[in-house]
Amino acid sequence: MSRFSQPPEAGFRRLNDSISFDWRLGPYDVQQSRAHVTMLAAQGIITGPDRDALDRALGQVEHELASGSFELAAGDEDIHMAIERRVGALSGAVGGKLHTARTRNDQVATEVAMFVRAHAHEARTAAARLAMTLVELAERHLDWPMPGYTHLQRAQPVYLSHHLLAYVWMLVRDRARFRHVVDATGPLPLGAGALAGVNFDTDRAFVARELGFASVSENSIDAVSNRDFVLDYLAAAATCATHLSRLGSEIVLWSSSEFGFCRLADAWASGSSIMPQKKNPDAAELLRAKAPRLTAHLVALYGVLHGLPLTYNKDMQEDKEPLFDAADTLETCLAAAHGMLASITFDRERMEAAASDELLAATDVADLLVRRGMPFRAAHGVVAGLVRTAVQQGKSLSDLAPDQLEAASPLLGDAFYEVLAGHAWLESKVSEGGTSLERIRQQLRRARAALAPA
Ligand code: ARG
Repeated sequence: MSRFSQPPEAGFRRLNDSISFDWRLGPYDVQQSRAHVTMLAAQGIITGPDRDALDRALGQVEHELASGSFELAAGDEDIHMAIERRVGALSGAVGGKLHTARTRNDQVATEVAMFVRAHAHEARTAAARLAMTLVELAERHLDWPMPGYTHLQRAQPVYLSHHLLAYVWMLVRDRARFRHVVDATGPLPLGAGALAGVNFDTDRAFVARELGFASVSENSIDAVSNRDFVLDYLAAAATCATHLSRLGSEIVLWSSSEFGFCRLADAWASGSSIMPQKKNPDAAELLRAKAPRLTAHLVALYGVLHGLPLTYNKDMQEDKEPLFDAADTLETCLAAAHGMLASITFDRERMEAAASDELLAATDVADLLVRRGMPFRAAHGVVAGLVRTAVQQGKSLSDLAPDQLEAASPLLGDAFYEVLAGHAWLESKVSEGGTSLERIRQQLRRARAALAPA
């Protein structure tokens, strides 16, 4: 019997059915059902033979899902109903007992939490792998000078290792964010029932242990309404993808003929259909472009949840497509960034030539005056005047004559030319976290420690 006198309209089903995407929750649904059934029998809510029959059927469904032979039926609205239908077909009337003390509301919240937890772990692993590749690149290019930029204008020289390590620390923070996501999936929703709890003496702590949850949700209303862990995952994913987009963007610039700092492996670049000479950094461009899509998924779910009355509303079915796409996109991007960097090569001469622009030592000249007693703001003005003169006369700083220096400030003297010689400007950055080699070696040790498995 059904409460309804009419079957659902095709147009309603097109809007309402979620099977086309939530099939991905299938393995979690089975796992969760098996734990539930074991608990029901242990609590005397179903019999041992009932449990065995249900478990056999669930084992068969698990096999069918894994092998791709699980068949959907015309009426399957979502994966939970499809699996329950199949369990019924395999086990007969006892199949109807599977849904005892359970609803799709606590069921779906539980499975989404399991999906989020698995993919937060996956992101942590992939981020660590990428970070280790960057650490190794930094070690191999420890003392390769390059210009550091602000406003995409050459600012101060740094070592390539230092620049690459900047991305490592972003990924270290991403890993911490995904660690928090794992924690956010800690309390088990299952057992909350539709919203108020269930009419049976269930053992939720047992189910939590079976499914790898750290605890049991404290409030059944919150349990079925909560999707914070999805928001947390999407936020962490959006931030991580934003980091990858900055990396991609720099690789696009650096691999251009104008920069010529790096070359991508042929396997990580594409040609042009019309210009035979082209080698395009498509992978790096797509890393650059994917981030806003993840940010949009986060914003979309905020939109769904905002102002939503408690408890479950069908609106919440809209958590899945953004989540699934975010996980797929992020994992693809992390793997691609890893592959692209594992095979990249850098051009020492091009980078060094760009870093030898003497104007990059302007701050160091100002600091020379500071060490000789001039306030920094005044020193900044003196050096700005020298740069202006040099640029106007088409000279480099070290071409300025001693009398020109003398006119600018009697404090400069021969030390001015010494500061401009060689790579003193890099090694003078001795402060903690600075680009001197000593500090970078320290940084590398700390980065390795931060990435070591806990
Ligand atoms: N497909 C639904 C979803 O993903 C499952 C939960 C349905 N619950 C309900 N009360 N209609 O949200």
